[in-house]
Parts: sequence; structure tokens; C-alpha cells
Amino acid sequence: MANTSRSIHGQWSSRFAFILAATGSAVGLGNIWKFPYITGENGGGAFVMVYLACVAALGIPIMIAEIMLGRRGRQSPINTMQSLAQEAGRDPRWHYLGWSGMIAGFLILAYYSVIAGWAMAYIFKAFFGAFIGSDAIEIKQLFDDLMAKPTQQIFWHSAFMFLTMAVVMRGVQGGLEKAVRFLMPTLFVLLVVLVGYAMTTGTYDQGVDFLFTPDFSKIDADAVLTAMGHAFFTLSLGMGAIMIYGSYLPGDVSIARTTFYIAGADTVVALLASIAIFPLVFANNLEVGAGPGLIFQTLPLAFGQMTGGWLFGIVFFVLLFFAALSSSISLIEPAVAWLVENREIERHQACVWSGLSCWALGVAVVFSFNVWSDVTLFGKNLFELLDYLTANLLLPLGGMAIAIFVGWQMQRHHAEQELALPSSGFDVWYLLIRYLAPAAVFLVFLHVAGIL
Ligand code: PFF
Repeated sequence: MANTSRSIHGQWSSRFAFILAATGSAVGLGNIWKFPYITGENGGGAFVMVYLACVAALGIPIMIAEIMLGRRGRQSPINTMQSLAQEAGRDPRWHYLGWSGMIAGFLILAYYSVIAGWAMAYIFKAFFGAFIGSDAIEIKQLFDDLMAKPTQQIFWHSAFMFLTMAVVMRGVQGGLEKAVRFLMPTLFVLLVVLVGYAMTTGTYDQGVDFLFTPDFSKIDADAVLTAMGHAFFTLSLGMGAIMIYGSYLPGDVSIARTTFYIAGADTVVALLASIAIFPLVFANNLEVGAGPGLIFQTLPLAFGQMTGGWLFGIVFFVLLFFAALSSSISLIEPAVAWLVENREIERHQACVWSGLSCWALGVAVVFSFNVWSDVTLFGKNLFELLDYLTANLLLPLGGMAIAIFVGWQMQRHHAEQELALPSSGFDVWYLLIRYLAPAAVFLVFLHVAGIL
């Protein structure tokens, strides 16, 4: 029988609305900004293969599990974990899994908002024609200038955080559903246009070879961890974002089918962005391992040279900004829902408190790109540290814990009831969730720790 309960925070208006919102959460800076640069830093093809394998074997099964937990619990991740643990007669301390997710979301949003601020700054640069006719050195200079200026970055970071809070305040259906309906298809079309441009660079084949010809000698345990961590990051897994979105999902929607759409769209966007970027890197003798500035130093070159580039440049950065916004709201939603449930405050107050504290940490992240760039711990500045701690540790651990909970703690028939899959499909998923997912994450950790 379908689950007919509802969350006190609201519900998506339809299955399609959920797909859009969850795709909005998944598709973001991770796909367009992060995936290309970590692929560049980790040698290309082999990294892409490991990433795709992680999406298929870990990401999809864990996404199904996380949405299912959310829909069964119908509360913030912390309370959902507590009540599902009780329902299964297990230790209520499973709610710490919700805590770890909430903290991860908070830490991610602090730097996510700074990068989204860069995208906003670039909308204006594009508008004022800053890319037109510029060569690679001038474009790099533009980026370096922005990095050197904390006040500008803080301004844009503040603006982005403000907008995130403004959307989250409006609740589930109010702002968000509408924005993503228009955004996703347009983003896709624009990426195809950029890939079209990349085909004209003369280095298209070199770019595609770099991405799809695996050379496994370039990959070590750390690269595998980064690829696995990114599979969690890009699908918004392991921290309760997809869980809370699942808690607003009507009871009669098929979770497994929807998951395939979301993961498929997410993967296609990441691959298209990379296919658009790497030919430009090679055509302009840029550094594949340029790091977080990669898209800001490559795509403006294309906009500066192609016909219609002025308009495409503006539209692209507007879309990147929207893609970031539809993800950032899901990063903060678990904390907001928990504050409303447990502290009995209004939704708008919860948004202000969580948003402000995240903003403050974001200001410190801005400094890590300039005045505090030398302040490091384990050889990483604050931005790198937050990124590593969340994407490479907290999210995979959260994903592993979700798999263990669903595979070993929850009653099988509850999962069967919630997923309503044909039995062969359920069996495959259950095997992956019980054995493969926890074991794979664990093995990667052992490797990185040098134990294996
Ligand atoms: N999936 C988003 C991206 O790829 O940009 C980032 C993200 C959103 C990560 C929500 C985690 C999350 F819970």
C-alpha cells in the first residue's frame, strides 16, 4: 500500500516537480565547475571511468535508499533517522547520522556560496564585455584580480546567501519549483551550444581523448577517493539533502525510476561541461590542472571569440548561478526543517539563523583565496580543507551509514513496501546496498589510510 503520510513542511506538487527539484539539487557547481577541474587534476580518462562506476554502483543504489528513508520518515534527517531507528527497534543514536549530514551541508554551503558568488560576478563581467577579444592571459588576469579582492568576493557571497535564504523562506512549492522548470532545459541547450563551439577549436579530439581514454597509471588511492567522493557530492548524497527532498515526495511515486532520471541528467551535464571545456584548454595551451579557476579561465575565452558570445556568456553565467541556487537551497533545508521541528521557531527565523552562520564561515573561505592563503592545516587552506572534509570524508561516510542502516538495520519488508519494485529489481538493489556499497566505501578508506 502506498505511503499516504505528509511532512509538516509541505509536499511537491507532482512527481515531475520532485524530479526537477532533486535534479536541481544534484546539478550544480559540482557538475560544471568542480567535475572538470578535478578531472583535470587527476589525469582525465581513468578518473572519469572510476567516477562513472561510482555513480552507477554506489550513487544510484544509495540515492534510492536515501529518498526512501526520507519518504518513510517524513521529517528532518535527524528526526527521520531517530524515528526510523525506533520503528526498526534499533538504537535511536542513528540520529547522529542526521547530525553529520546537517553539519556537512553547512560546511559545504559556506564555500559553495563563495564560488556561486564568482559566477554572479562573471554575469556582470560578461555583460560589460570583459571577455570580448581577450586572449588567455587577459582572461586569467581577470580571474586572478577577482581572487585578490576579498571585498568583491564577500559582496557576491553575501548576495548569493541572501538569495538562498529568500528562496528557502518561501517553502517547498513557492519559489523553487518554478525556477527549476525553466532552468534545467535551458542549461542543457546552452551546454550543447558550447560543445558545438568546442568542436570548432581544432583540439576537440584531443579534449575528448583526454576525457575518455583511460590511463590507469595516472590514478592512485587519493584519486579514487576523490572520484568516489564526487559521486556523492554531485548527486547530493550522504548528507540528508536528498533525504529531506524525499520527505516531501508523494507516496505513490516510484523512487527507483525517478532516481534513474536524476542521476542520468546529472551525469550528462557533467560530461557535456567537460567536453565543452577541455578542447579549449588544449587549444589555448592552458593548464589542465588549473584547479578551481578552470571554468572561469576557459569558457570566457570561447565567449570572447564566438559569434553571439556576448549573449551566450551572460546566459551561461546566469544559468550557472541558477544551478548553484537550486543546489544551495537543498544544502540548508535539512537544518531549517530541524530548527522548525525541534526549536519551534518559524521557518523564516530558521532560515535567517542558519543562513547567517553559514555566511560567516563563508567570509573566512573568501580570505583563504587571498589574505589567508598561507594559513594551512595538513597542507590545505580553509577552502581545500572544507572541500576535502565534506566531499571526501563526510559524504562517503554518510552514504556508507545510510547503506548499512537500510541493508542491516531496517526491516526488509519496510523497504520493499516503500519501493514497490518487481522482486528481481529489489533483490539486485538490496545486494548492492547490503554488501557492495558499504564494502566499497570501506575499502577505499582503507586504501587511502595506507592500510591496504
Ligand atoms: N550536488 C550539488 C552539485 O553538484 O553542485 C552540490 C550539493 C548539493 C552537494 C546538495 C550536496 C548536497 F547535499
